Amino acid sequence: MSAPFAKDSRTTFLAPMQDITDAGFISIVSGYGAPDFAIAEYFRIHEFYEFEPDVLKAALDNPERVCVQFIGEDETHIARAVAELRMYPQIKMLDLNLGCPAPKVYKKNVGGGLLRHPGKIRSIMRVMRGEWGGCFSVKMRTGFEEDENFKELLECVLEGRPDFITVHARTVKQLYRGAPDYSKIRQAAKISPVPIIANGDISSADKALKVIEETKCAGVMSGRHAVRNPWIFRQMREKFDGRPVFEPTLADVRGYIEKLHDHAASGKRRMKYVDSRLKKYINFIGASVDEKGEFLYHMRRARGIADLMKVCDAYLVENGNADKKFSPEPYPDVCSRPNHEGGL
Ligand SMILES: Cc1cc2nc3c(=O)[nH]c(=O)nc-3n(C[C@H](O)[C@H](O)[C@H](O)COP(=O)(O)O)c2cc1C
Repeated sequence: MSAPFAKDSRTTFLAPMQDITDAGFISIVSGYGAPDFAIAEYFRIHEFYEFEPDVLKAALDNPERVCVQFIGEDETHIARAVAELRMYPQIKMLDLNLGCPAPKVYKKNVGGGLLRHPGKIRSIMRVMRGEWGGCFSVKMRTGFEEDENFKELLECVLEGRPDFITVHARTVKQLYRGAPDYSKIRQAAKISPVPIIANGDISSADKALKVIEETKCAGVMSGRHAVRNPWIFRQMREKFDGRPVFEPTLADVRGYIEKLHDHAASGKRRMKYVDSRLKKYINFIGASVDEKGEFLYHMRRARGIADLMKVCDAYLVENGNADKKFSPEPYPDVCSRPNHEGGL
C-alpha cells in the first residue's frame, strides 16, 4: 500500500491528542472545514490492552480518513492487536507512536522512549508492516535528548517501509515547548522516498504554507492550534488555493463553544464536571480572544457551567464583542495552559 496522498499534495492532518480528539471532537472540527486526515489518540498496547470504544468509534465513523494509532513495546501484543484491528476491514490506516514524551510512558521504552532503541523500532515495525496490509505510518520526534542522530533515526524508520512519516520537529525532552526545528523536516523531505508530514506549532494557514514551501514536506499536522481554531483546516485549504481566507468573529467562536459544551455534556458523562471538561478546550481558544488574556483569566475563575457560559457571553458576544475578529495566531503574551505541558 502507499500513502493516500502524494508528496506534493499539501495534505492537512488533525493531530492525535489524548482525551481531546475523540469521535465527537473530530466531528465538530470537521464541521468547520475538515482536515484531509486525522489520527485518533493512541491505543496503549500491552498484555491486557483494550480498544477504547470512543477512540475506535473515531476511526469507524470515518475509516478512510481517520488513522488508528498504537503505542507499545512488545511485539507479541502488538501483533495480536494488529490482528484484532484487521477484524474491522473498513479501517485503512495504522500509525506507530514514536513521540510520546510523558515520563511514565518513555521510561518503559514506549513512545518517545523507543527513539533510544533503534533495534526495537526495527523489530516493532517489522511486525506491524508484516501483519498490516493497509496504510502504515509512523509519528516520530527528531530525537530523544538531542537531535543530532535524527538522520540515523529517520533511516531506521524508513527501513521499516512506512507509507508516510509525520515528524514533530522537537526532541522528546523538549516536550511541547521551545521552537520546533523545521530544518529537520526539510532534511527528512529531502532524504525520504515517502511523504513527510510536518508537525509542531503549525499555528495558522500562513504558517502552514510557509513550512510547506520552506521544507518541501507533503503536508502539515496541527493539534493544539486546531482546538484553538477549528477553522484552521478550511483556512489552510483557502490559503493553499490562493482564495480569500475565512476570518471568524468572536460570535462564531461562541457558536463553537456551544458545540463543545453539548459534546462535553453528552453521553453518560456526569453533568457535574461539564465546566471542567469545557475549560480544557477553552484554555486553548482563549489565547486568540483578547490580547490581555482577560477572557482566560475570568473563565478560569468561573464556578459552575452557568457562570462559565456567562463569561463566554460577556467576552464573545456582549459589550460590542460579537463582530470582533478572532486572531488567527495566539496573542504573544497569552498563555493558554500555564502549568500544563501541552500549553500553547
Ligand atoms: C493533550 C495532548 C495529547 C496528545 N496525545 C497524543 C497521542 O495520543 N498520540 C500522539 O502521537 N501525539 C499526541 N500528542 C502530540 C500531538 O499529536 C502533537 O504532536 C503535538 O501537540 C505538537 O503539535 P501541535 O503544536 O500542533 O499541538 C498530544 C499532545 C497534547 C497536547
